[in-house]
Amino acid sequence: MRIAMIGTGYVGLVSGTCFADFGHHVTCVDKDVTKIDALLAGRMPIWEPGLESLVKSNVERGRLAFTTDLTEALKGAQAVFIAVGTPSQRGDGHADLTYVYAAVKELAGLLDQPLVVVTKSTVPVGTGDRIAEILAEEGAPKGCSVASNPEFLREGAAIADFKHPDRILVGAEDDGARAVLAEIYRPLFLNKAPLLFTSRRTAELTKYAANAFLAMKISFINEMADLCEAVDADVQELARGIGLDNRIGGKFLHAGPGYGGSCFPKDTLALLKTADDAGVEQRIVSTVVAVNDDRKAAMAERVRAALGGNLEGKRIGLLGLTFKPNTDDMRDAPSIPLVEGLLTGGASVVAFDPVGRVQAESLLGEIDYAARAEDVADGADALVIVTEWDEFRALDLADLARRMRGNVLVDLRNIYDRSDAERAGLAYRGIGRGRPNA
Ligand code: UGA
Repeated sequence: MRIAMIGTGYVGLVSGTCFADFGHHVTCVDKDVTKIDALLAGRMPIWEPGLESLVKSNVERGRLAFTTDLTEALKGAQAVFIAVGTPSQRGDGHADLTYVYAAVKELAGLLDQPLVVVTKSTVPVGTGDRIAEILAEEGAPKGCSVASNPEFLREGAAIADFKHPDRILVGAEDDGARAVLAEIYRPLFLNKAPLLFTSRRTAELTKYAANAFLAMKISFINEMADLCEAVDADVQELARGIGLDNRIGGKFLHAGPGYGGSCFPKDTLALLKTADDAGVEQRIVSTVVAVNDDRKAAMAERVRAALGGNLEGKRIGLLGLTFKPNTDDMRDAPSIPLVEGLLTGGASVVAFDPVGRVQAESLLGEIDYAARAEDVADGADALVIVTEWDEFRALDLADLARRMRGNVLVDLRNIYDRSDAERAGLAYRGIGRGRPNA
């Protein structure tokens, strides 16, 4: 099948490449000439494990192409996916649909045969209805359908998530659209991935509900972590204790510095905006958002407390800056308010991140960057593990302790054991692992 993919950002590029890998013929189109030129030269605009080689092999086999010309991308296509950005609108949290509607308007005027227009971008409920109206207004051929097919990809694990999904969700209003989407996903369906058909509006809302629920699990376990610290209990054992109950499930119960990234913060706000417009209160999701905002803002205080209440003149070494490992994405990363709080408190900061430095430099204030993980320990009063990159999991703690001026290790991701850290001469403070000084 021929597929056009509009938008070569994270979602569009991963989805288009994986469709091509299934054997479909995919043309990815983007207005950004530099991005397309880079892709044509084999350079990836994002850092995602496994993507570069998958793009290369599918381009070589003639199944994946890149262009800035939408007409060319639409030639012979039976489906066009819209995977452009839907950032938060300033002020009210609503998803900004400017790019989505602009893409639909443009393609409507170029079509010479009907096809299925599929939203892959995360869009608020009712967007598909508006797209159908625009297609009609702009004179698209009769017989075009509009479907919603939200993605459930995690950055850093996107290709595996795409190829081994828990489910594929398709919201459609007619059999033609359902048949085209079923054909596109047939390779996964043969692999027993459940293909779930719903109404279009339900699919749109389900995507937000899924992210809000996962965000809720994280905020829940983060509050439990605070309680564990107050009553001398261990949140990791608690998470295992509840997570082994199948009704709860063990995933997304890692306590930490709060969730960040391009999805949970944006999508929870957009869900609240939808609910607000519909006149329906969503007390749980609004609390989840507030708990997470407060948590991220409180991480600098945690470091201050570990240092005995004073940050003035202290040197803090940060391990990791990105919102999670295996990505260079810094959007809404907990490191941003952390660095701000540390600098405001009078500390100086040195950081190391395996791939996030370039993105970080444009977002963080005046900090130093180290070339290797262990270098952030040189002369530091405290080390803070901010992102759980694999390469931070087996550092030589005794060597770090020797390089430091102080001896505090604040482990915001719980990747070390208190006893190992103490044996190395470090004063350890994790998240939710007993009373801080117990
Ligand atoms: C998330 C969802 O997991 C995907 O299913 C969804 O498709 C995607 O949003 C999206 O809407 O596009 P992503 O933002 O890439 O994916 O990253 P996650 O792995 O979900 O992590 C999000 C944040 O939660 C990170 O800051 C992470 O550190 C934090 N987190 C995650 C925790 O603090 N604890 C956990 O147990 C899990």
